[in-house]
Amino acid sequence: YDAVIAPIAGGISNRKQIPNRVSYKKYQLIRVVPTDEDEVLDIEAMSEEPGVQVWMPIRLNKTADLVLPPSVARDVKRFLSQREIEFVVVSSDLERSIAKQNPKSPSLNQKSELKATKGHTMTWNRYHRYQDILDYLMYLSEHYPHLVELLPIGKTSEGRQLKVVKISSGQTKENVVKPAIWIDGGIHAREWIAPAVALYVMRQLVENKSYRKLVSEVDWYILPVVNADGYEYSHTTDRLWRKSRSVATESARTLWDTSYGCEGVDLNRNWDWHWGGVGASRDPCSDTYAGSRAFSEPETRAVSDFLLDHRDRIQVYLTLHSYSQMWLVPWSHTKKLADDYDDMMYLARQATESIQRVHGSQYQLGTSPSLLYATSGGSDDWAKGKAGIKYSYTVELPDKGVYGFLLPAEKIVPTSKEIFTGIKSIVKSIMKIN
Ligand code: ARG
Ligand code: ZN
Repeated sequence: YDAVIAPIAGGISNRKQIPNRVSYKKYQLIRVVPTDEDEVLDIEAMSEEPGVQVWMPIRLNKTADLVLPPSVARDVKRFLSQREIEFVVVSSDLERSIAKQNPKSPSLNQKSELKATKGHTMTWNRYHRYQDILDYLMYLSEHYPHLVELLPIGKTSEGRQLKVVKISSGQTKENVVKPAIWIDGGIHAREWIAPAVALYVMRQLVENKSYRKLVSEVDWYILPVVNADGYEYSHTTDRLWRKSRSVATESARTLWDTSYGCEGVDLNRNWDWHWGGVGASRDPCSDTYAGSRAFSEPETRAVSDFLLDHRDRIQVYLTLHSYSQMWLVPWSHTKKLADDYDDMMYLARQATESIQRVHGSQYQLGTSPSLLYATSGGSDDWAKGKAGIKYSYTVELPDKGVYGFLLPAEKIVPTSKEIFTGIKSIVKSIMKIN
């Protein structure tokens, strides 16, 4: 369904206007590599300019990806040239990149034809709306009732259903605890490749008979879109939206809420793990706002409750994000390594090596503080630290910064294939351990 913006109870006259659609016309994506600490500081200062977005963080001798609004693009580029800091303009008009990313959805006629012949309208050659995704889940559960069960785990802030897909077959033998794996995608709204990959994995497990053993020996729990509200918002209104879409209660609302971008919480900062610490913001208008408290959001509450209920069986927690092509292991909140870091790395290394054999893609492997930045309140750390799930990973999907979040739809299948290969390698190792 289309998002209906619910009127606030009591009505607030100065409620800010939600734009029809945010335009990124003439917004530029630039890549810049600071080669000394001064340049890091210069670029950081620049990133504070209004409207500038940091897609990849500013670190010494690493590429930072920055989005510049047209209002500052010229000055910023002049400033960089004066400082003799090299930069590359990757896209000179993000609105055009956005338009090119996703083929148009079929007409209603074509859709009903698809539905009549295939039973659903899901494809892997474009990014789909949430309703198409839900319809596909329904289709799977109706056509493969012996394999697929839908488990409603709660609702988003705007009332969308969150349904975990359980894929499993065969009887569990007595005294045998069948291992399980959890996979989620779409914690961050704009990372469209993540739900698409989760749905691909789901489809292979259900519709491809060659994976029957994987399904009979392991239970799979897949939630393709955690942040369904944000995901829809990124389709309808702001392609680069990251957070959820919750609105602070009236009493908690302050002046700053009246400017654009202050709704929602970063659902990967909202988990009860060193909540509100490093790499998380207390400013509701920030893209990394941690929320008013740990698990303030219905989405993170629903997923964490489910994980706790199944913690005795879930041995792998996998969360799909983009972009940067990395296979991240806990911890993210500290540079200290987990006691069983080597165990986690061992399986992850097997996964990234098997990924590389598919079409040569290289995924960097390590902790977030060593490869990216430290963060707190993340789902992977919580899954390991609080739910006790030993093998907990965040996969940062492609690419490494040409398209960034705007990965063209034709990359869905190749990306999904390699990630499914990586996941299979992990699951096969888990089956051996058991
Ligand atoms: N890119 C993701 C984010 O900013 C993950 C960063 C690493 N943190 C983590 N908990 N894995 O939320
Ligand atoms: Zn993310």
